[in-house]
Amino acid sequence: MCGIVGYTGTRQAGPILIGGLEKLEYRGYDSAGISINDGNGIKIAKALGRLAMLEGITDGGRKLRGTAGLGHTRWATHGRPSDANSHPHLSQTGRIAVVHNGIIENYRVLKEMLINRGRVFVSETDTEVATQLIDFYYEGDLLRAVHRAMNDIEGAYALGIMCADDPDTLIAVRKQAPLIVAYGEGENYFASDVTAVLEHTKRVSYLSDGEIAVLTPGEVKFYDSFLQPVEKQVEIIDWDVSAAEKGGYEHFMIKEILEQPRALRDTVSPRIRDGKIVFEGIELDADYIRGIDWIYIVACGSSYHVGVVAKYNIERIVRKPVQVVLASEFRYSEPLVTGNTLAIMISQSGETADTIAALREAKRLGARTLAIVNVVGSTIAREADDVLYTWAGPEIAVATTKAYSTQLAVTYLLTLYFAECCGRITESELAAYLEELNRIPDKLEEICSKREHVQYLASLYFSADNIFFIGRNIDYALSLEGSLKLKEISYICSEAYAAGELKHGTISLIEDDTPVVAVMTSRRLMEKTASNAEEVKARGARVLAVTTESLRKEAERVADNVIAIPDSSDMFLPSLAIVPMQLFSYYVAVSRGCNIDKPRNLAKSVTVE
Ligand code: M6R
Repeated sequence: MCGIVGYTGTRQAGPILIGGLEKLEYRGYDSAGISINDGNGIKIAKALGRLAMLEGITDGGRKLRGTAGLGHTRWATHGRPSDANSHPHLSQTGRIAVVHNGIIENYRVLKEMLINRGRVFVSETDTEVATQLIDFYYEGDLLRAVHRAMNDIEGAYALGIMCADDPDTLIAVRKQAPLIVAYGEGENYFASDVTAVLEHTKRVSYLSDGEIAVLTPGEVKFYDSFLQPVEKQVEIIDWDVSAAEKGGYEHFMIKEILEQPRALRDTVSPRIRDGKIVFEGIELDADYIRGIDWIYIVACGSSYHVGVVAKYNIERIVRKPVQVVLASEFRYSEPLVTGNTLAIMISQSGETADTIAALREAKRLGARTLAIVNVVGSTIAREADDVLYTWAGPEIAVATTKAYSTQLAVTYLLTLYFAECCGRITESELAAYLEELNRIPDKLEEICSKREHVQYLASLYFSADNIFFIGRNIDYALSLEGSLKLKEISYICSEAYAAGELKHGTISLIEDDTPVVAVMTSRRLMEKTASNAEEVKARGARVLAVTTESLRKEAERVADNVIAIPDSSDMFLPSLAIVPMQLFSYYVAVSRGCNIDKPRNLAKSVTVE
């Protein structure tokens, strides 16, 4: 929910921290702050609003002098966005400063204990409680004080800590919130994710739950939750900083939409060899797959929508039952798990708190778990029994596009792999599917090259107050994502409905000029969805159809406007149809003057329940 970064070295820390926060701002952006020890104690600068405000008041971080410090960009959980609630928090004595990502669940009890011992609080945050607690335990040894505080604190956190008595030392700790340490020459860093440090170094280590890192300019020492030293593996990040920059585009979102052909190639091509699907490093053999009696797909938001598409494909082609469950519901739904249950977790970030909790619950109940994840080394990737990475590269825009598309692609490969293992498709059918799948990136390029038409259509619809998306089966799954994309960045109230369900109540909301996006890519269901489009048209709706080239004529009969995608087999159509819907949302939001990459109230990675 928030982004944290720390630097200790020989350079001025301020500009480095601000640079790191720029890369982390996607994680939260209601306020930001830095703290630096200038040799005369810890100095703090904070600003409500976007990072640009902090940059302004600190001259890009240069006004605070010193070579070690902490930075934070916030997405409020406890206490509204304000200067007082912004991080870093300073203890009452002025000795300890803390930045925090996560939630301290027992902060009320701890706060009461500290108030009874004379501590005075100046913010409404749980983080200030951690700050004061560490200070309370501090008797000249910061590591021991942090360790004692960790034993008291319940919840999820990544904390960055500095102490006025030891200007060069930073401590970083992690429990159920992402945290990496990165190594430079004579300088070291920690951060919520690697993008914050990539311009300085590509050598990183991932902290595990309960681990503590003590950083000085010359070295980083790691300890486990019993304060025993730990050796960490150093990993080299193989993508460069330009992957996390706009590269001349006005927004990350449009850059990432247009990157989808490349992202799909990277995700699919290495997994097809000599006409076979190859999943390196995972242990789901054919016998196991044949024995699966139930598949859960568990995820949140757009990743959940990928699961809805996958359910239609797996059930139709593999003929195994699939239940798609929102991660926030899964753990409280007493899921029915047998030894032959496979639970597939889908997550771009690999750090979504609800999905992590669902993964742990599925494992506890005895399910085998498979994660589809974009961020390498993330919690879900490390804790699942098997992981399939989506090689989308860093996704910065809060609204997911290329991660969604690569997740879809992995589910196609899984579906075909399962179908082959279960004898549901012949070799020649598999070959035909794979040939078709290999052609999808070229078709995506074609769709992207025609984006001006979508831009024109967006100019006809951008002033709407409400928009409905309708579709049947997989087209309904696509409607869910099309609708989410639109509402999250344009703030237009939008609902997705199974086309046949509209008449059971919701159709009463249709009036003159209400826009309805009718997703009709399925030939099998075209007539049915077209009838539903007629029904809303008869009540005054303006219909925008998303269909295939071969169904264009039928769509034109019922729709006011049509977007036609290249034809493909039913299974892969979602990959093609989603792109114009992403573009539509993008251009509508641009026309409305919205903040495209950082929509209000949202954050890229939702690390709270
Ligand atoms: O990182 P995850 O895929 O687990 O995130 C899940 C959702 O928060 C995410 O898909 C969200 O719905 C998208 N940002 C919407 O565009």
